[in-house]
Amino acid sequence: MQLSTDYMGLALRNPLVASASPVSKTVDGVRRLADAGVGAVVLYSLFEEQLRREAELNARLADAGTESFAESLTYFPSEAEEDPGPRQYVSLLERAAAAVEVPVIGSLNGVTPGGWADYARAMQDAGAAAIELNIYYLPGDAHISGRDVEQRHIDVLTRVRDAVSVPVAVKLGPHFSSFGEMALRLDEAGADGLVLFNRFLQPDIDPESLAVVSNVELSSPAEARLPRTWIALLRGRVRAALAATSGVEDPADVAKYLLAGADVVMTTSALLRHGPAHAAVLLDGLSDWMVRQGFATVDELRGILAVAPGTDEAAHERAGYVSALQNANSSVYGPW
Ligand SMILES: Cc1cc2nc3c(=O)[nH]c(=O)nc-3n(C[C@H](O)[C@H](O)[C@H](O)COP(=O)(O)O)c2cc1C
Repeated sequence: MQLSTDYMGLALRNPLVASASPVSKTVDGVRRLADAGVGAVVLYSLFEEQLRREAELNARLADAGTESFAESLTYFPSEAEEDPGPRQYVSLLERAAAAVEVPVIGSLNGVTPGGWADYARAMQDAGAAAIELNIYYLPGDAHISGRDVEQRHIDVLTRVRDAVSVPVAVKLGPHFSSFGEMALRLDEAGADGLVLFNRFLQPDIDPESLAVVSNVELSSPAEARLPRTWIALLRGRVRAALAATSGVEDPADVAKYLLAGADVVMTTSALLRHGPAHAAVLLDGLSDWMVRQGFATVDELRGILAVAPGTDEAAHERAGYVSALQNANSSVYGPW
Protein backbone atom coordinates (compact mmCIF):
# COMPACT_ATOMS: atom_id res chain seq x y z
CA MET A 1 0.00 0.00 0.00
CA GLN A 2 1.57 3.25 -1.16
CA LEU A 3 0.04 6.38 0.37
CA SER A 4 2.99 8.69 -0.30
CA THR A 5 2.32 11.63 -2.55
CA ASP A 6 3.50 15.01 -3.78
CA TYR A 7 1.99 18.35 -2.81
CA MET A 8 3.44 21.44 -4.51
CA GLY A 9 6.79 19.64 -4.79
CA LEU A 10 6.76 18.58 -1.12
CA ALA A 11 7.10 14.84 -0.57
CA LEU A 12 4.35 13.76 1.83
CA ARG A 13 3.99 10.33 3.43
CA ASN A 14 0.26 10.46 2.68
CA PRO A 15 -2.30 12.90 1.23
CA LEU A 16 -4.04 13.80 4.53
CA VAL A 17 -3.19 17.32 5.70
CA ALA A 18 -4.32 18.96 8.95
CA SER A 19 -5.70 22.33 7.80
CA ALA A 20 -5.35 25.54 9.77
CA SER A 21 -7.08 25.31 13.14
CA PRO A 22 -6.61 25.91 16.86
CA VAL A 23 -5.08 22.41 17.15
CA SER A 24 -1.87 23.86 15.70
CA LYS A 25 -1.68 26.73 18.17
CA THR A 26 0.89 24.82 20.24
CA VAL A 27 3.90 22.67 19.43
CA ASP A 28 2.21 19.87 21.36
CA GLY A 29 -0.86 20.10 19.10
CA VAL A 30 1.32 19.94 16.00
CA ARG A 31 3.17 16.96 17.45
CA ARG A 32 -0.10 15.16 18.18
CA LEU A 33 -1.20 15.67 14.58
CA ALA A 34 2.10 14.33 13.28
CA ASP A 35 1.95 11.36 15.70
CA ALA A 36 -1.55 10.56 14.40
CA GLY A 37 -0.01 10.24 10.94
CA VAL A 38 -0.94 13.33 8.90
CA GLY A 39 1.20 14.04 5.84
CA ALA A 40 1.59 17.75 6.66
CA VAL A 41 0.28 20.40 9.03
CA VAL A 42 -0.94 23.87 8.10
CA LEU A 43 -0.46 26.14 11.10
CA TYR A 44 -3.38 28.33 12.22
CA SER A 45 -3.32 31.70 10.45
CA LEU A 46 -1.45 34.84 11.22
CA PHE A 47 -4.04 37.53 10.49
CA GLU A 48 -3.46 40.76 8.62
CA GLU A 49 -5.17 42.53 11.54
CA GLN A 50 -2.41 41.26 13.84
CA LEU A 51 0.25 42.61 11.48
CA ARG A 52 -1.46 45.98 11.50
CA ARG A 53 -1.64 45.97 15.30
CA GLU A 54 2.06 45.22 15.52
CA ALA A 55 2.86 48.04 13.08
CA GLU A 56 0.83 50.43 15.25
CA LEU A 57 2.55 49.19 18.39
CA ASN A 58 5.98 49.64 16.82
CA ALA A 59 5.06 53.16 15.74
CA ARG A 60 4.03 53.99 19.30
CA LEU A 61 7.23 52.50 20.65
CA ALA A 62 9.26 54.59 18.24
CA ASP A 63 7.37 57.68 19.39
CA ALA A 64 8.09 56.77 23.00
CA GLY A 65 11.81 56.65 22.14
CA THR A 66 12.38 53.14 23.42
CA GLU A 67 15.50 51.48 22.08
CA SER A 68 14.90 47.79 22.05
CA PHE A 69 11.77 45.79 21.31
CA ALA A 70 12.40 43.35 24.16
CA GLU A 71 12.50 46.20 26.66
CA SER A 72 9.48 47.71 25.00
CA LEU A 73 7.42 44.61 25.57
CA THR A 74 7.63 45.19 29.30
CA TYR A 75 6.47 48.72 28.59
CA PHE A 76 3.19 47.36 27.13
CA PRO A 77 2.88 44.05 28.98
CA SER A 78 -0.85 43.53 28.61
CA GLU A 79 -0.93 44.09 24.84
CA ALA A 80 2.10 41.89 24.26
CA GLU A 81 0.62 39.05 26.28
CA GLU A 82 -2.91 39.25 24.91
CA ASP A 83 -2.01 39.19 21.24
CA PRO A 84 -0.09 36.08 20.20
CA GLY A 85 1.25 38.39 17.49
CA PRO A 86 3.55 37.94 14.57
CA ARG A 87 6.75 37.31 16.53
CA GLN A 88 5.17 34.61 18.65
CA TYR A 89 3.71 33.08 15.50
CA VAL A 90 7.07 32.87 13.81
CA SER A 91 8.59 31.45 17.00
CA LEU A 92 5.88 28.75 17.18
CA LEU A 93 6.43 27.92 13.53
CA GLU A 94 10.16 27.53 14.10
CA ARG A 95 9.67 25.23 17.11
CA ALA A 96 6.92 23.21 15.43
CA ALA A 97 8.94 22.70 12.25
CA ALA A 98 11.87 21.47 14.33
CA ALA A 99 9.67 19.18 16.44
CA VAL A 100 8.07 17.08 13.69
CA GLU A 101 9.24 15.21 10.63
CA VAL A 102 6.34 16.26 8.42
CA PRO A 103 6.24 19.59 6.53
CA VAL A 104 4.75 22.49 8.48
CA ILE A 105 3.04 25.11 6.33
CA GLY A 106 2.68 28.71 7.52
CA SER A 107 -0.64 30.47 6.96
CA LEU A 108 -1.28 34.17 6.30
CA ASN A 109 -4.86 35.38 6.37
CA GLY A 110 -5.88 38.73 4.93
CA VAL A 111 -7.18 40.77 2.03
CA THR A 112 -4.80 43.57 1.10
CA PRO A 113 -1.48 43.26 -0.72
CA GLY A 114 0.51 45.39 1.76
CA GLY A 115 2.65 44.05 4.56
CA TRP A 116 2.61 40.37 3.75
CA ALA A 117 5.91 39.90 2.06
CA ASP A 118 8.12 40.40 5.12
CA TYR A 119 6.10 37.98 7.19
CA ALA A 120 6.00 35.37 4.45
CA ARG A 121 9.79 35.59 4.30
CA ALA A 122 10.03 35.37 8.10
CA MET A 123 7.89 32.23 7.98
CA GLN A 124 10.13 30.74 5.31
CA ASP A 125 13.23 31.55 7.39
CA ALA A 126 11.59 29.94 10.43
CA GLY A 127 11.26 26.65 8.56
CA ALA A 128 7.88 26.82 6.82
CA ALA A 129 7.88 24.22 4.04
CA ALA A 130 5.33 26.36 2.16
CA ILE A 131 3.05 29.34 2.68
CA GLU A 132 -0.74 29.15 2.50
CA LEU A 133 -2.39 32.48 1.77
CA ASN A 134 -5.94 32.57 3.00
CA ILE A 135 -7.59 35.41 1.08
CA TYR A 136 -10.79 35.77 3.06
CA TYR A 137 -12.37 38.66 1.22
CA LEU A 138 -16.09 39.42 1.13
CA PRO A 139 -16.62 42.59 -0.92
CA GLY A 140 -19.43 44.04 1.16
CA ASP A 141 -19.21 47.32 -0.77
CA ALA A 142 -21.66 46.91 -3.66
CA HIS A 143 -19.61 49.30 -5.82
CA ILE A 144 -16.59 47.01 -6.07
CA SER A 145 -16.46 45.29 -9.44
CA GLY A 146 -15.92 41.59 -9.89
CA ARG A 147 -12.72 42.28 -11.84
CA ASP A 148 -11.35 44.34 -8.92
CA VAL A 149 -12.07 41.51 -6.52
CA GLU A 150 -10.24 39.09 -8.77
CA GLN A 151 -7.30 41.47 -9.23
CA ARG A 152 -6.94 41.82 -5.48
CA HIS A 153 -6.40 38.06 -5.24
CA ILE A 154 -3.76 38.21 -7.95
CA ASP A 155 -2.00 41.18 -6.29
CA VAL A 156 -1.85 39.50 -2.90
CA LEU A 157 -0.47 36.32 -4.44
CA THR A 158 2.10 38.16 -6.57
CA ARG A 159 3.43 40.11 -3.61
CA VAL A 160 4.05 36.96 -1.59
CA ARG A 161 5.18 34.85 -4.55
CA ASP A 162 7.95 37.39 -5.23
CA ALA A 163 9.10 37.34 -1.60
CA VAL A 164 9.68 33.64 -0.99
CA SER A 165 11.17 30.64 -2.72
CA VAL A 166 9.03 28.00 -0.96
CA PRO A 167 5.75 26.96 -2.62
CA VAL A 168 2.76 29.29 -2.15
CA ALA A 169 -0.82 28.03 -2.03
CA VAL A 170 -3.91 30.24 -2.21
CA LYS A 171 -6.92 29.33 -0.10
CA LEU A 172 -10.01 31.13 -1.34
CA GLY A 173 -13.77 31.07 -1.50
CA PRO A 174 -15.98 29.89 -4.36
CA HIS A 175 -17.90 33.14 -4.86
CA PHE A 176 -16.74 34.35 -8.27
CA SER A 177 -18.78 34.75 -11.44
CA SER A 178 -16.41 32.34 -13.11
CA PHE A 179 -14.41 30.48 -10.52
CA GLY A 180 -12.65 28.47 -13.22
CA GLU A 181 -11.16 31.59 -14.77
CA MET A 182 -10.06 32.83 -11.34
CA ALA A 183 -8.30 29.53 -10.80
CA LEU A 184 -6.56 29.79 -14.18
CA ARG A 185 -5.44 33.36 -13.43
CA LEU A 186 -4.00 32.36 -10.04
CA ASP A 187 -2.30 29.43 -11.71
CA GLU A 188 -0.73 31.72 -14.30
CA ALA A 189 0.28 34.21 -11.58
CA GLY A 190 2.38 31.48 -9.95
CA ALA A 191 0.17 29.80 -7.33
CA ASP A 192 1.71 26.42 -6.54
CA GLY A 193 -1.48 25.22 -4.92
CA LEU A 194 -5.18 26.08 -4.80
CA VAL A 195 -6.97 25.26 -1.56
CA LEU A 196 -10.69 24.87 -2.20
CA PHE A 197 -12.65 26.27 -0.44
CA ASN A 198 -12.67 28.73 2.41
CA ARG A 199 -15.84 28.36 4.45
CA PHE A 200 -17.46 31.73 4.82
CA LEU A 201 -18.61 32.20 8.37
CA GLN A 202 -21.77 34.18 7.89
CA PRO A 203 -23.14 35.78 11.04
CA ASP A 204 -26.42 34.60 12.51
CA ILE A 205 -29.22 36.53 14.19
CA ASP A 206 -30.48 35.79 17.68
CA PRO A 207 -34.17 36.73 17.61
CA GLU A 208 -34.38 36.74 21.44
CA SER A 209 -31.51 39.10 22.18
CA LEU A 210 -32.12 40.96 18.89
CA ALA A 211 -28.42 40.75 18.19
CA VAL A 212 -26.16 39.67 15.37
CA VAL A 213 -24.02 36.79 16.60
CA SER A 214 -20.94 35.30 15.05
CA ASN A 215 -19.79 31.80 15.79
CA VAL A 216 -18.02 28.96 14.03
CA GLU A 217 -19.99 25.84 13.28
CA LEU A 218 -18.11 22.70 12.39
CA SER A 219 -18.68 21.41 8.87
CA SER A 220 -20.71 18.47 7.59
CA PRO A 221 -19.85 16.12 4.67
CA ALA A 222 -22.50 17.73 2.42
CA GLU A 223 -20.24 20.81 2.26
CA ALA A 224 -17.67 18.76 0.36
CA ARG A 225 -19.82 18.70 -2.77
CA LEU A 226 -18.95 22.19 -4.02
CA PRO A 227 -15.17 21.93 -3.61
CA ARG A 228 -15.27 18.38 -4.98
CA THR A 229 -17.14 19.56 -8.06
CA TRP A 230 -14.52 22.25 -8.74
CA ILE A 231 -11.62 19.93 -8.09
CA ALA A 232 -13.08 17.48 -10.62
CA LEU A 233 -13.42 20.36 -13.11
CA LEU A 234 -9.92 21.76 -12.57
CA ARG A 235 -8.03 18.46 -12.55
CA GLY A 236 -5.73 18.41 -15.57
CA ARG A 237 -6.49 22.05 -16.40
CA VAL A 238 -4.16 23.81 -13.93
CA ARG A 239 -0.51 23.29 -13.11
CA ALA A 240 -1.14 24.16 -9.44
CA ALA A 241 -1.72 21.35 -6.97
CA LEU A 242 -5.30 20.98 -5.77
CA ALA A 243 -6.00 20.78 -2.05
CA ALA A 244 -9.49 19.93 -0.83
CA THR A 245 -10.85 21.50 2.33
CA SER A 246 -14.39 21.20 3.75
CA GLY A 247 -16.56 18.39 4.93
CA VAL A 248 -14.14 15.53 5.63
CA GLU A 249 -15.55 13.44 8.46
CA ASP A 250 -14.96 9.82 7.40
CA PRO A 251 -12.42 7.90 5.30
CA ALA A 252 -14.99 7.82 2.47
CA ASP A 253 -14.85 11.64 2.29
CA VAL A 254 -11.07 11.47 1.80
CA ALA A 255 -11.47 8.82 -0.89
CA LYS A 256 -14.11 10.86 -2.75
CA TYR A 257 -11.89 13.95 -2.91
CA LEU A 258 -8.99 11.87 -4.25
CA LEU A 259 -11.21 10.24 -6.87
CA ALA A 260 -12.30 13.73 -7.95
CA GLY A 261 -8.66 14.71 -8.41
CA ALA A 262 -7.39 16.31 -5.20
CA ASP A 263 -3.65 16.12 -4.61
CA VAL A 264 -4.18 16.37 -0.88
CA VAL A 265 -7.22 16.31 1.38
CA MET A 266 -7.39 18.58 4.39
CA THR A 267 -9.39 18.24 7.58
CA THR A 268 -10.18 20.44 10.55
CA SER A 269 -13.74 19.97 11.83
CA ALA A 270 -13.34 16.21 12.24
CA LEU A 271 -10.12 16.71 14.20
CA LEU A 272 -11.80 19.26 16.46
CA ARG A 273 -14.81 16.98 16.92
CA HIS A 274 -12.92 13.75 17.63
CA GLY A 275 -9.40 14.89 18.54
CA PRO A 276 -6.13 14.80 16.54
CA ALA A 277 -6.01 10.98 16.78
CA HIS A 278 -8.93 10.90 14.32
CA ALA A 279 -6.33 11.42 11.57
CA ALA A 280 -5.22 7.82 12.14
CA VAL A 281 -8.84 6.65 11.75
CA LEU A 282 -9.09 8.49 8.42
CA LEU A 283 -5.81 7.05 7.18
CA ASP A 284 -6.55 3.48 8.29
CA GLY A 285 -9.97 3.69 6.66
CA LEU A 286 -8.43 5.05 3.45
CA SER A 287 -5.97 2.13 3.34
CA ASP A 288 -8.75 -0.40 3.97
CA TRP A 289 -10.85 1.10 1.18
CA MET A 290 -7.88 1.03 -1.22
CA VAL A 291 -7.33 -2.65 -0.46
CA ARG A 292 -11.03 -3.41 -1.01
CA GLN A 293 -10.98 -1.53 -4.32
CA GLY A 294 -7.67 -3.02 -5.46
CA PHE A 295 -5.69 0.26 -5.56
CA ALA A 296 -2.02 -0.07 -4.67
CA THR A 297 -1.09 3.62 -4.82
CA VAL A 298 -2.79 6.99 -4.42
CA ASP A 299 -1.60 7.99 -7.90
CA GLU A 300 -3.55 5.08 -9.37
CA LEU A 301 -6.90 6.33 -8.08
CA ARG A 302 -6.40 10.09 -8.09
CA GLY A 303 -8.72 11.85 -10.49
CA ILE A 304 -10.34 8.81 -12.05
CA LEU A 305 -13.70 10.53 -11.54
CA ALA A 306 -12.50 13.98 -12.63
CA VAL A 307 -14.14 15.68 -15.60
CA ALA A 308 -11.94 14.61 -18.49
CA PRO A 309 -10.15 17.45 -20.34
CA GLY A 310 -11.91 18.04 -23.65
CA THR A 311 -15.35 17.63 -22.07
CA ASP A 312 -17.83 20.48 -22.51
CA GLU A 313 -17.67 21.43 -18.83
CA ALA A 314 -20.74 23.66 -18.76
CA ALA A 315 -22.86 21.01 -20.52
CA HIS A 316 -21.49 18.38 -18.16
CA GLU A 317 -22.51 20.36 -15.07
CA ARG A 318 -25.90 21.24 -16.55
CA ALA A 319 -26.55 17.56 -17.34
CA GLY A 320 -25.69 16.60 -13.75
CA TYR A 321 -28.09 19.22 -12.44
CA VAL A 322 -30.93 18.17 -14.73
CA SER A 323 -30.56 14.45 -14.03
CA ALA A 324 -30.40 15.05 -10.25
CA LEU A 325 -33.65 17.03 -10.41
CA GLN A 326 -35.31 14.44 -12.65
CA ASN A 327 -34.39 11.68 -10.17
CA ALA A 328 -35.67 13.75 -7.27
CA ASN A 329 -38.92 14.56 -9.06
CA SER A 330 -39.63 11.03 -10.18
CA SER A 331 -38.66 8.93 -7.18
CA VAL A 332 -36.84 10.30 -4.15
CA TYR A 333 -39.48 12.85 -3.15
CA GLY A 334 -42.55 11.38 -4.77
CA PRO A 335 -45.18 10.33 -5.57
CA TRP A 336 -47.43 12.28 -3.23
C1 LIG B 1 -12.29 26.67 14.82
C2 LIG B 1 -11.73 26.85 13.44
C3 LIG B 1 -10.62 27.67 13.25
C4 LIG B 1 -10.09 27.86 11.97
N1 LIG B 1 -8.99 28.67 11.81
C5 LIG B 1 -8.50 28.86 10.57
C6 LIG B 1 -7.37 29.68 10.36
O1 LIG B 1 -6.76 30.23 11.29
N2 LIG B 1 -6.94 29.85 9.08
C7 LIG B 1 -7.54 29.25 8.01
O2 LIG B 1 -7.09 29.41 6.89
N3 LIG B 1 -8.59 28.45 8.19
C8 LIG B 1 -9.08 28.23 9.43
N4 LIG B 1 -10.17 27.42 9.59
C9 LIG B 1 -10.75 26.75 8.41
C10 LIG B 1 -10.22 25.32 8.28
O3 LIG B 1 -8.83 25.32 8.05
C11 LIG B 1 -10.90 24.56 7.14
O4 LIG B 1 -10.52 25.13 5.89
C12 LIG B 1 -12.42 24.59 7.22
O5 LIG B 1 -12.85 24.37 8.55
C13 LIG B 1 -13.04 23.54 6.32
O6 LIG B 1 -12.55 22.26 6.60
P1 LIG B 1 -13.35 21.20 7.53
O7 LIG B 1 -14.65 20.98 6.91
O8 LIG B 1 -12.46 20.00 7.54
O9 LIG B 1 -13.47 21.83 8.87
C14 LIG B 1 -10.69 27.22 10.86
C15 LIG B 1 -11.81 26.39 11.07
C16 LIG B 1 -12.32 26.19 12.33
C17 LIG B 1 -13.50 25.29 12.49
